[in-house]
Amino acid sequence: MDITDQIKKLKKEKNAIILAHNYQLPEVHDIADFVGDSLGLSMTAAKTDADVIVFCGVHFMAETAKILSPDKIVLLPDKKAGCPMADMIDAEGLQALQAQHPHAVTLCYVNTSANVKAHCDYCCTSSNALKMVQHILKSHEEIIFIPDKYLAQYVSAQVGRKFITWEGFCPTHARLLPENILQARELHPQAKVLAHPECRPEITALADMVASTEKMCSFVHNDPAVEFIIATEIGIIHRLKKENPEKIFYPASDKAACPNMKRINLEKILWSLQDLEYEIKVSRDTMDKARRAIERMLQIT
Ligand code: 13P
Ligand code: SF4
Repeated sequence: MDITDQIKKLKKEKNAIILAHNYQLPEVHDIADFVGDSLGLSMTAAKTDADVIVFCGVHFMAETAKILSPDKIVLLPDKKAGCPMADMIDAEGLQALQAQHPHAVTLCYVNTSANVKAHCDYCCTSSNALKMVQHILKSHEEIIFIPDKYLAQYVSAQVGRKFITWEGFCPTHARLLPENILQARELHPQAKVLAHPECRPEITALADMVASTEKMCSFVHNDPAVEFIIATEIGIIHRLKKENPEKIFYPASDKAACPNMKRINLEKILWSLQDLEYEIKVSRDTMDKARRAIERMLQIT
């Protein structure tokens, strides 16, 4: 039996579901039951009736799935698959910032640990950050928006309000530079540029469309353009090609590859199902506190 069949057999035996982020390797996309962005993955994790969730993504995403399905077994096939941006802030650092701004509401990007989320009022992903900010601004003046300074800057420009921010960023998206877009545009003048809001502001300023990975997929599907320059992690191009075989995609730079997302492969998924490893464990108290911010987001989205 080949590895794909072995995974399918074990998945059935253990009543497991495989969730994969858009940045995963092509073979991981192809074996997954659901491929999506952070928001779609959280929503799927919240409503699945599987007993086991094999999460092909990075640690904070698997933790979010665990918080939303605390009685299920949530597995991350590689325990070292973390997110450097999420690791740029901890609960102590956030509490120190909150102490300086006692009247501010805290909105955290989903790219944060459960410990950090436990100290936040609201959570957001890149696809609903603007909506969440607009919601909060109806009743509050000050927002602490952590940890991604570029996402915060992007949303801040949309609403014309300043936030209290953190010096966090995604090292993968930060590799994309304006010259990458300018060169790609010169080579492909008909192409539309799609950029993720984790990119530097100089990049989002050059884009035709700024969107989360899922919104990029729907934009490409509905837009009449045939060629697209993709300014985000290169893993998404497999899905874009698969869903739009008649369209052409150019990565803004091959350097935009997230090493953590690429740690997961078919062998590790198989071992994960065989040994039920590596199980995500978070204390009940932290999960209960962190769930408030995530559920508020899911209610508003
Ligand atoms: P989205 O899939 O929500 O757009 O997030 C991108 C990302 O970098 C997650 O780590
Ligand atoms: Fe973290 Fe960036 Fe990798 Fe997403 S792409 S997991 S934000 S390092």
